[in-house]
Amino acid sequence: EKGGYEHFMIKEIYEQPKAVRETMTSRVAKDDSGITFDELKWTKDDVAGIKKIAVVACGTAYHAGIVGKYLIENLARIPVEVDVASEFRYRSPLVDDQTLAIVISQSGETLDTLAALKEAKNLGARTLAITNVVGSSIAREADQVIYTWAGPEIAVASTKAYTTQLVVMAMLATYMGAIKGTLAQEKVSELCNALRELPNQVHELLEDVEPIKTFAQQYGFNEDVFFIGRSLDYAVALEGSLKLKEISYIHAEAYAAGELKHGTLALIIEGVPVIALATQHDVYEKTLSNIKEVKARDAVVIGIGLKGDKQIEKYVDHTIFIPATNKFLTPILSVIPLQLLAYYAAVTRGCDVDKPRNLAKSVTVE
Ligand code: M6R
Repeated sequence: EKGGYEHFMIKEIYEQPKAVRETMTSRVAKDDSGITFDELKWTKDDVAGIKKIAVVACGTAYHAGIVGKYLIENLARIPVEVDVASEFRYRSPLVDDQTLAIVISQSGETLDTLAALKEAKNLGARTLAITNVVGSSIAREADQVIYTWAGPEIAVASTKAYTTQLVVMAMLATYMGAIKGTLAQEKVSELCNALRELPNQVHELLEDVEPIKTFAQQYGFNEDVFFIGRSLDYAVALEGSLKLKEISYIHAEAYAAGELKHGTLALIIEGVPVIALATQHDVYEKTLSNIKEVKARDAVVIGIGLKGDKQIEKYVDHTIFIPATNKFLTPILSVIPLQLLAYYAAVTRGCDVDKPRNLAKSVTVE
């Protein structure tokens, strides 16, 4: 059942090129002309009626929501709030009939997310579920559903569900931007074209895992690891940090790189591993200066950069390069080395990778 792999998690990591492709099938036009969602069929009026979007989810799905906020606000210019589901219900959220509530859940059974969905419905919101499980409770409760088509995810640590949630977010933001007219046709085509290249690029990243394995073995016994990045890189840092904590039990924290000097820099001392993501052009120089700040405290920095970046290597100890893509799609690629790092760290430490202590695959209690 593990198809020759040692764990479900690594099998599922390697299934990502296929999963990402399936998520796009029949949605991204072959001629790059646009995105279709047969399950939505939204009109200009439908999209114009959305004054605000509330994204609600837990854990990894919440991290996909943070990326979603960035994409929808940039491409479709609709304000987006993202909440952890267990908080949403208890803060009297400002949700009404002009709000679209988007809930994201791999399993479709997470109790807090389901309850948040019901709450949003009660407040009059239109609801859309993004889930991987057909006919799940969340799929049945929502007005509309987009399935991620990642195939069954067995390992507790979510991998292919996350990358396919990101693909859905990118398609949805492009779809809404195109309908609304905030996104020029040329940009739509660029995004479609970049989306269609993703499966091969994910595949390419999975071909050379040796350096990542080596880092994991080298740093796998450190007690603290920091992940830093700005904008979309920060969102991915959050996910990389959760993955490492969850399966390797290493204390990991993610910070918006610019936030470091407001406290956390005090923890950066000689030999502390810092994973620094620097894939976003518009904040690249700023991120580099944050990398220099941690290097000056003798941290060991592993940089995640875009292929072709000649500068980053001068400032970090090791670099992992990801293929160049549209800036809105980088999270789908940059998270892959972080998944692998977490996996190999857990293996190095002899952890129960697929069933980490204290955790369940789907959390059906509050
Ligand atoms: O099934 P869901 O997507 O609703 O699950 C949400 C979280 O419990 C889940 O993503 C969790 O954070 C993962 N174990 C992380 O790898």
